[in-house]
Amino acid sequence: MIPGFECASWELRWRGLAVDNLHRTESTFALSNGHIGLRGSLDEGEPVGLPGTYLNGFYEAHDLPYAEAGYGYPEAGQTIVNVTDGKIIRLLVDDEPLDMRYGKAHSHQRTLDFRTGVLTRETEWESPTGALVRLRSQRLVSFTQRAVAAIRYEVEPVDRPLQLVVQSDLLANEPIVSESRDPRVAAALRDPLVAEFQHGEGERAVLVHRTRKSELRMAAGMDHEIISPDNLRSGLTVETDLARLTAAVDVGLGERLCVTKYLGYGWSGQRSAPALRAQVEAALAGARQTGWAGLLAEQRRFLDDFWDVADVEIDGDPELQQALRFALFHIVQAGVRGENRAIPGKGLTGPGYDGHAFWDTETFVLPVLTYTVPAAARDALRWRHSTLPKARERAHVLGKKGAAFPWRSINGAECSAYWPAGTAAFHVSADIADAVSRYVAATQDGDFDRNEGTELLVETARLWMSLGHYDPHDGFRIDGVTGPDEYTAVVDNNIYTNVMAQKNLTEAVAACERNPDSAERLGVDADELAAWRHAADEMCVPFDNLLGVHPQSEGFTSHEPWDFAGTPEDNYPLMLNYPYFDLYRKQVVKQADLVLALHLRGDLFTLEQKAADFAYYEARTIRDSSLSAATQAVVAAECGHLDLAFDYLAETALIDLQDLHENVRNGLHMASLAGAWLALVAGFGGMRDHHGELTFAPRLPSALSRASFRMCWRGSRICVEIERDTASYRLVSGDPVRSAHHGEPVEIGPEPVSMAIPPVPEFPTPSPPPGREPRRK
Ligand code: BGC
Repeated sequence: MIPGFECASWELRWRGLAVDNLHRTESTFALSNGHIGLRGSLDEGEPVGLPGTYLNGFYEAHDLPYAEAGYGYPEAGQTIVNVTDGKIIRLLVDDEPLDMRYGKAHSHQRTLDFRTGVLTRETEWESPTGALVRLRSQRLVSFTQRAVAAIRYEVEPVDRPLQLVVQSDLLANEPIVSESRDPRVAAALRDPLVAEFQHGEGERAVLVHRTRKSELRMAAGMDHEIISPDNLRSGLTVETDLARLTAAVDVGLGERLCVTKYLGYGWSGQRSAPALRAQVEAALAGARQTGWAGLLAEQRRFLDDFWDVADVEIDGDPELQQALRFALFHIVQAGVRGENRAIPGKGLTGPGYDGHAFWDTETFVLPVLTYTVPAAARDALRWRHSTLPKARERAHVLGKKGAAFPWRSINGAECSAYWPAGTAAFHVSADIADAVSRYVAATQDGDFDRNEGTELLVETARLWMSLGHYDPHDGFRIDGVTGPDEYTAVVDNNIYTNVMAQKNLTEAVAACERNPDSAERLGVDADELAAWRHAADEMCVPFDNLLGVHPQSEGFTSHEPWDFAGTPEDNYPLMLNYPYFDLYRKQVVKQADLVLALHLRGDLFTLEQKAADFAYYEARTIRDSSLSAATQAVVAAECGHLDLAFDYLAETALIDLQDLHENVRNGLHMASLAGAWLALVAGFGGMRDHHGELTFAPRLPSALSRASFRMCWRGSRICVEIERDTASYRLVSGDPVRSAHHGEPVEIGPEPVSMAIPPVPEFPTPSPPPGREPRRK
């Protein structure tokens, strides 16, 4: 049997072991609550692809390398640290260590259940000397108790009494192989934790460590409950980097050893070692008080509520059904208990991108959270707000006003050493503003609007005013920036940037008008409001009259075409095989850029214009970034290319389950997974939220016979069901919701309203460049 995931609608199961695939399953089976992240490695710690235990925001700093100096280059990088590992439970069976590389696994399977939030592993293993045990372990990272994870580990002999020894560890400075090509990063990550305090008592231990340069402090604690035959002998040892509980017991047939391990984690840049120790000990006490069964019940309740607001169903493609739920499960894991921390590009599932957060979060992940778990979206935006001092400082260094948010970061300071893609990608500030306006419109959260929201909008609006300038012919120009497409850099009037900045300016005006006190506190006066309005009205949006399409940025459509026919398949991604200067001066698009503007600022373009622009860029977009397929799905669906949209939905949803970019070992692609929801809801559901209005325009691709999704809007939950010729809308809970179906007003109440789906617009279906068709294995 070829190892792989089994298809099931509510779980992800991998039967068999396939040691050479562990790195894949460690990422896909990662558990997280947005604060703690545990990669899905085997209990006994080895064999392992890439061990990983992460705490959101906990990083080490290192110098950034530059061959040539330049003004304003960020000086320090940040890299997520593999913290003290509490997952490890080793087992000796009649003197033989359980290690899947030896002996014989009669069966082995791991299952991640999307409804219970538990990762279960079951194996029947025969040691090299013929001792046969049945092992079952269950692992969870609590959604309800943020600092807590727990493991239940059960072993029983199968055909004869056995002596079992369990060693349950807390291990700091676990050896890892750094994937970084930068020796500085590798050095920063070698033994990154300096021991400060350790203590053990009974079955409980705590280790406190800190990092050298970033000076962050963390504590990890473990406590245990053991059920076993009564000849058990146990002991605890504590060293600087290792705490270990050892339990030895003779187990007869029909008996078993059951260890419940509770883990508590905490970190801080300010709290003392005693304070952090107390914090994790309190978390452990709380977890023990709740107990294993209680934690399971809380997890289930939390997820029942989540699926009630977020579930998606499709008929016609079981593999995709599973992928959609898998995607949603990981999005909620990444965001739900982050609490004023970033949501990194990989969540907490791996060390990829050094653990940095990008615009991916605001543009792809937050729309999903805004409409399913809005408090998580609010918390992620509060993190951005808490980094405003750094963003103001960055704008100041760059000689600009307002706030310039970083391209990539953990703590809010810019970490990108490549300025054309990093510093110049100013659109990230407009993306944050967009996420703020969407969240405020979808929730009417007045507190957030008055406090964090308005300030974020005002400071980003100020950035645009100082970045742009008026030209007598063109109006308000924003020159010298990099848009989403990183194969075109430092360009003039990138349309995506301009129209997102335009929205940023008008939303800032509206927020100040709604919240005059906040505006006054921020020093906004009538002249400033008038200036924002004027710049928005005069925003330059270039158009190529000859071709009848929008150039992604000025001059783009007259650049030399890329020679797609002459580009061998192995030469993708292009950035690893061609010099940037050549990519920059040719018409080749790494990822949706103008097409993303067609989605997010769809209010500005007619359908005919969208279809013409989409066709033009479709032929030039190669998706060397995983952020592209979802957007192409959304706009393809709107233009009536439903089957093409379906293929892009499949690509974005299956990116990690099928390892389409061959880098899942480093962690999951959160933006792409969030994109799966966007492709379904904004693509086939046609959901849009322009100007604070929620509207739909559903249509099905031929591969599906039905699709349905749920979401929340201003405290109400609704369900939209799409069939071939009709769509129906139903209120699940809360007050009726006013919306529109293909432009016709509809009030969504408890009784389902069914509406006819109008004919599909007919535009010729465009094709991607040769060799770059949507991927699915
Ligand atoms: C993409 C960026 C993205 C980053 C992190 C890059 O390959 O071009 O748009 O933010 O990956 O996902």
